[in-house]
Amino acid sequence: MAKLFDMSKKVLVVVASTRPGRLGPAVASWFVRATTGTAIDLGVEVDVADLAEVGLPFLDEPEHPATGIYQHEHTRAWSRRVAAADALVFVTSEYNFAMPATLKNAFDYLSAEWAWKPCLFIGYGNTSAGTRGVQMARGVATSLRMLSIGGDIFLRIADDLSDGEVTETERLAARAKDALTELTRVADVLRPLYRADLEIVPAVSGDAPELLVLQRCCWVDEAIANETLDLPALVESEDEVRAALRTWTTWCVRSGGRLVGSVRAKRDGDTWNIGRLMVAPDQRHSGLGRRLLSFAESQAPAGVTEATLFTGARSERNQALYQKAGYSLFTEDAPAGAVGLRKPL
Ligand SMILES: Cc1cc2nc3c(=O)[nH]c(=O)nc-3n(C[C@H](O)[C@H](O)[C@H](O)COP(=O)(O)O)c2cc1C
Repeated sequence: MAKLFDMSKKVLVVVASTRPGRLGPAVASWFVRATTGTAIDLGVEVDVADLAEVGLPFLDEPEHPATGIYQHEHTRAWSRRVAAADALVFVTSEYNFAMPATLKNAFDYLSAEWAWKPCLFIGYGNTSAGTRGVQMARGVATSLRMLSIGGDIFLRIADDLSDGEVTETERLAARAKDALTELTRVADVLRPLYRADLEIVPAVSGDAPELLVLQRCCWVDEAIANETLDLPALVESEDEVRAALRTWTTWCVRSGGRLVGSVRAKRDGDTWNIGRLMVAPDQRHSGLGRRLLSFAESQAPAGVTEATLFTGARSERNQALYQKAGYSLFTEDAPAGAVGLRKPL
C-alpha cells in the first residue's frame, strides 16, 4: 500500500554506461556506500537507476517530451522514476571526449520530469578523469532546466580505482557526503518550483489507493442523484483502479500532499474519451474541475477530432458544467442511465 503522505526526499543515482564489464555500477555503489549515514541523517532515500537495467531503446516516442504524451510503457516507467526524484546524481564515463550515448538518450526521453531539480555529476576516465564527458552532460542538463551544483566528483581510473572498485579514502567519502548534503539543501529550496501545489501531474500506480478513496467519495453524489449504487466508480477494487492506470492516461492534483482532483483520457479512433473527472467535495467551486477538464482536452493527441464523456442522466450539475465548457448532449450509444457529451476539438 502506498504511503498517503510521502514527504521523504529522493535522490536518483543514474548509472550512464551500459557495456559489459563497465565500471559505472562500482562507482555508483561507492557513492551510495559513502553517503549512507548522511542520507539517513537527512531523511534521503537513494534509488539507483542503472541504464543497462532501465533498458531504454533509442528514443522511439513520436511526440516531443515536453507534451508529456508517452506511448510506450518504458517511457512512462522512466518518467515516473525521474519525476519521483528530488535530485539527480549522474555517474558517467567519458567516451571519445563526450558523455555516453546512453545518457544523452535517457535525457532526451523526458522534459518536465528533469526541470528545476539539482544535479551532481560523478565523472571518471583516464587522463581527463571524465571532465569532458561531464562538461557535455552539464550543458544538456542545463538546457533541461536542471541546476548543476558545485562539488562534482572526478575520478581518474589509474589513481582512484583498483581492481574495478573505487579506492575508498576519507577524502573522497567526505566529498561525497558534502555533495549529497548540498544537493538536498538545494532541492529543499527548489522544491516549490518542481512540485507546485495544485500542479496537474501524471498519475502513477502508487496513486491507486487514493484514487479509489477519492472516486468513491465523489461518486456518492452521483449515486444519490441517479438513485443507483451500480456505478463503476463506486464498486471498483483497488486492483481495477490500478489496472485502469495502465490503459488510461490519468492525471492527479494534490494540495499539501493530499489527492484532491483527477481526470483521465484515452484515445479511441478520432475520439478522445475523457472520464473520471473528480474534485474532492471540499475543493469544489474553486475552478479545479474546469481546469482539469480543459487540461485533459489539451492533451488530446494529433488527429483526434472530438472529446466525449459520459455522466449520469440525472446528474444535472455535471451536465451544466460540461455544457458550459462547450459540450453538447447526446443519448445514442450512452450506457443505460447515462448521457453522453461531446465537443469538437
Ligand atoms: C568507446 C570508448 C571510448 C572511450 N573514450 C575515452 C575518452 O574519451 N576519455 C577517457 O578518459 N577515457 C575513455 N575511454 C576509457 C574509459 O574511461 C574507460 O574504459 C572506462 O572504464 C569507461 O567507463 P565504463 O567502464 O563505465 O564503460 C573510452 C572507453 C570506451 C569503451
